[in-house]
Amino acid sequence: MFKPNFLSLLCLSLSTPLIASEYTNLPNVPPGVFEVSTRTEISTTLSAAWHTLIDFPNYAAWNPFVRTSIVTSANNITLPDQRPAEGKYLFMRVQIPPLPLPVNEKTLDNPAHTQFAYERIAHVQPELGRLAWVYLPEDALTAQRWQAVSDIGNGTVLYEAREVFSGPLAALLQAAMEKGLQESFDGQGEGLKLWLEGGAK
Ligand SMILES: *[C@@H]1O[C@H](CO)[C@@H](O)[C@H](O)[C@H]1NC(C)=O
Ligand SMILES: *[C@@H]1O[C@H](CO)[C@@H](O)[C@H](O)[C@H]1NC(C)=O
Repeated sequence: MFKPNFLSLLCLSLSTPLIASEYTNLPNVPPGVFEVSTRTEISTTLSAAWHTLIDFPNYAAWNPFVRTSIVTSANNITLPDQRPAEGKYLFMRVQIPPLPLPVNEKTLDNPAHTQFAYERIAHVQPELGRLAWVYLPEDALTAQRWQAVSDIGNGTVLYEAREVFSGPLAALLQAAMEKGLQESFDGQGEGLKLWLEGGAK
């Protein structure tokens, strides 16, 4: 009797690192019709992860989901400064589902999986390691995408992304694209990890 109890207590205490997987740096947002999300732990520095995420001109080198992300004005004019800033806009060319990894700047799109999106940059919070943009137009379908990086110790950075979809068209989008979107979110996390841990170089 004593031994099994002791063992299960031991197992409980060994499993405490699992608590780390419940930590999140994503803000609470109201639930929508559906959401897709991903999280992955990367051996890197917070600074390297953050700078990779805001370096849009280099996305094609590692990102199997977002192949182009161009910072624009409200009327889609490419801005000279390509750093994300609140109130600026994004034109994106994406792959849903994602390209197979690894990718580089020469990897060709799968034309059947290519989509375009226009977004407004809602939050750029370097001190919190958070970025957010919202899908345009904002009437029939709204989508808010947050990404976050955080230092979880021992040279490990947690990358998280979540997009919440709502509005009258969200259920249609869910039926058509939830699986592909989920794969694309996971793909971006895996691509970021591969790039930052040196596997893609
Ligand atoms: C927005 O800009 C991108 C990149 O310059 C371009 O490919 C796209 O066709 C533009 N969209 C519209 C509606 O003009
Ligand atoms: C960090 O690594 C050390 C040595 O490997 C270990 O003892 C410690 O528990 C780790 N801390 C975390 C937060 O993982």
